[in-house]
Amino acid sequence: MPRVGILTGGGDCPGLNAVIRAATRSALNNSWEVVGIKNGWKGLLEKETQILDMRSISGILHRGGTILGTSRTNPYKNEGDSEIAKNNFKELNLDALIAIGGEDTLGVANKLSEEGLNIVGVPKTIDNDLNATDYTFGFDTAVNIATECIDRLHTTAESHHRLMVVEVMGRHAGWIATFSGLAGGADVILIPEIPINVAEVCQIIKNRHARGKNFSIIVVAEGAKFSKSQEILQDGELDEFGHVKLGGIGQKLAKLIETNTGFETRVVVLGHIQRGGTPTAYDRILATRYGVKAMELVFNKKFGRMAALKGNHIVDVPLKEAIAELKTVDEKIYEIAKIFFG
Ligand code: F6P
Repeated sequence: MPRVGILTGGGDCPGLNAVIRAATRSALNNSWEVVGIKNGWKGLLEKETQILDMRSISGILHRGGTILGTSRTNPYKNEGDSEIAKNNFKELNLDALIAIGGEDTLGVANKLSEEGLNIVGVPKTIDNDLNATDYTFGFDTAVNIATECIDRLHTTAESHHRLMVVEVMGRHAGWIATFSGLAGGADVILIPEIPINVAEVCQIIKNRHARGKNFSIIVVAEGAKFSKSQEILQDGELDEFGHVKLGGIGQKLAKLIETNTGFETRVVVLGHIQRGGTPTAYDRILATRYGVKAMELVFNKKFGRMAALKGNHIVDVPLKEAIAELKTVDEKIYEIAKIFFG
C-alpha cells in the first residue's frame, strides 16, 4: 500500500482538522495508508507518528485546533536536522507528504521538496497573508470572531461614551483588521501596511465626536507601527523562524489617543480567541476542498505544488510562488473601509 504523511505546522488555525479529515478520506478511498506526523516538523525529526484511519478522523470536522498537534520547529535551524528529516521520510516509507501551514511551514516544505522529497502544501493561516491563493482557511473564522467582538464592544462603548481600541492579529498584513473592521463598522482601522499617524487618527475621532457621536471603535492590527518606528513587542524572544512576539500596540495607541483627545479609552486584545474553536461553514468547506485537492496532487505526482483558491476554483500553484512574498491587504478594499472612517 502506498503511504502518505500529513503534518500541521506553525500557529494552529480553525479548519486544520477538516483538511486532515478530507485528505485522509480521499487517501483511504483510494487504498493509500495515512500517517499523521505529530507536532509539525518536530514529529518528522523525532519520528513521532500515528496512523490515521476512519476512526481517528471521525467527528473532527467541526473541531478547532489540530488532532496532530503543531510546533514552530524549523529543521533548517540546526545543522544536520534537515538530513534527519529526509532520512526519516525514507524510514517511515512515505511516498508523499502533505504539509499544512503558513509561510514558515511551507518554506521548509519547499526546501525539502527542492532537495528531493515528494511534498505538497495546503495554505493555512488566520492572517491570510500567504501569496498565490485568494484566501487561506481559518481567515473567515477569525474575521467572524473579531466582528462579533466589535459588535459587542459597540454597545458597551456607546453606553459609557468611550473609545475602544481593539487589537487583532495580523503580524505582517492587516487582513483581519480590515475585514472585521469593515464588517463591524469600525471608525478607524490601522494596519501594518500603513504607518500610524496618531494626529490624523485623533482628528478623525474629534471630528466624529463634534458631529454628535459620543463613542468610537478603533481596530488595530498587532503588527501596525507608528511612523518610522518598530513594531511593539511583548518581549525580546524569537521563535525558530526568527519571529518576534508582537503585542502591545493597542495599549500604546490608546494612551496616546486618550491624552490627545481627552476621551476615556479602553483597550481589548483579542489574541488567541481568534484562532481557537470551531471553524465557520465557509472554512470547513474551503479546508475540505484543499484536503481533497492535496491528495489529488499526490495521486498525480504533482509535487512541489500547493492547493490554492483562485476565484471560486481550487487550483494548484508552485510552493515557491506561495512563499515568494507576503500577500498584503488589497488597497482597494482598504479604500472602501476608509469611506467609513470617522
Ligand atoms: O497565526 C499567525 C499568528 O496568528 C500571528 O498573527 C501572530 O503574531 C502569531 O500567530 C502568534 O502566534 P503564537 O502566539 O502561537 O506564537
